[in-house]
Amino acid sequence: MFIYKAGVIGAGAMGAGIAQVISFSGLPVVLKDTDQERVDKGLAMIRKVYQSRVDKGKMTASEMDQKMKLVIGTTSYDDFKDCDLVIEAVFENMKVKHQVFQELEKVLPETAIMASNTSALSISQIASAVKHSDKVIGIHFFNPAPVMKLIEVIPGLQTSTETVDDAVAFAESLRKMPVRVKECAGFLVNRLLLPYLNEAAYAYQESSASMEDMDNAMRGFGMPMGPFALLDMLGLDVCADVSGILYDSFGPRMKAAEILGEMQKNNRLGVKNGIGFYVYDESKKADLKPVVDAIQAKTGVKGTAFSPERLVFQMINEAAFCLEENVASPSDIDLAMLAGTGFPQDKGGPLHYADAIGVDVVVEKLKELSKTLGPRFWPAPILKRMVAANYLGQKTKRGFFNY
Ligand code: 3HC
Repeated sequence: MFIYKAGVIGAGAMGAGIAQVISFSGLPVVLKDTDQERVDKGLAMIRKVYQSRVDKGKMTASEMDQKMKLVIGTTSYDDFKDCDLVIEAVFENMKVKHQVFQELEKVLPETAIMASNTSALSISQIASAVKHSDKVIGIHFFNPAPVMKLIEVIPGLQTSTETVDDAVAFAESLRKMPVRVKECAGFLVNRLLLPYLNEAAYAYQESSASMEDMDNAMRGFGMPMGPFALLDMLGLDVCADVSGILYDSFGPRMKAAEILGEMQKNNRLGVKNGIGFYVYDESKKADLKPVVDAIQAKTGVKGTAFSPERLVFQMINEAAFCLEENVASPSDIDLAMLAGTGFPQDKGGPLHYADAIGVDVVVEKLKELSKTLGPRFWPAPILKRMVAANYLGQKTKRGFFNY
């Protein structure tokens, strides 16, 4: 199926970023939100991305104007009537998503693809609200959408093979890297990234190290930004939503660190409202110590040790669970983490990294962390089976990959 015109619903940071990517590929794109002020804010965000390219000499002002002309801001569903593919990027509420998809289905051509950019909600459940559920699919971008190469393509139970193939071709036409992922809560990347970020939050509330030191340590490991800077960029509200969905599906190993809920309660949402773990607007400056003290008084846990492994091993362990559930292949898991989170290229992804340090070492370290920090580190069963079968990684020439 050829896509002549696309649409995006929700002109927040993700929706606007997605519309920028689509317009950059040369396709007209309708960008909708509930009121003109939000639409204008989204359009301004897109212009800012293009302007930065103009400033760097990567495009001319007239090329920017041509690209901006491809973006059609609207507050009406009527403007979607000739769209071949629409991506919903509204906030994470199933009821709202159902309403959006039902409105869309009323105006779209029967052949159109209805995609969701949800971070973690069930595509199958979203699809259950519409007649043409075979046309519903997850097309999940990563923040910042104009930069991150990965797109997760997630079929729901009802999605047709044709829709999946069209979504993959569409992602490629945007010059992105599509990875097909079996549906599960958090899909692939958020399912691995959130436990990593959550572990940083535990370490913070336990006063394991300062957040600056932990961010520096993770950059030292090779991540493009530290976990606290990333939590702030993604938004503590978004992270709390995704954490809740993961907990609901996978249980106690995904229990969110108390500080994440407290951040939301204290309206510290991150870069978007000027204060998160870091302070972006000096007028909002407020000490987090009383919040941390209260958590420590409640949990009785403080002064635990911090190491980059503590965070990265959460990622590796969840990758192993994903592998066991056939969410994606080992190479797709690694590729997705490289392209979706900037996991260091030289380490090849969490599974290549596990093979390099030794699967047996990973299991021993997870057991140790499980004893000191709790059962959320309990090794995924596949890891123990690999060790028992001498699949230890590079040193035995076979592990997650063959060497
Ligand atoms: N919008 C558009 N472009 C941006 C941008 C933004 N918000 N932020 C940075 N850029 C561009 C810059 O203009 C620059 O472009 P250039 O190469 O043409 O000059 C390029 O990106 C690199 O930026 P910087 O030099 O300023 O900074 P970095 O090299 O540190 O890159 C980063 C910034 C791309 C954000 C990098 O730190 C990174 O990859 N961080 C990890 C982000 C991540 O993990 N994202 C995934 C989160 S999970 C998710 O989104 C799922 C959701 O469901 C929750």
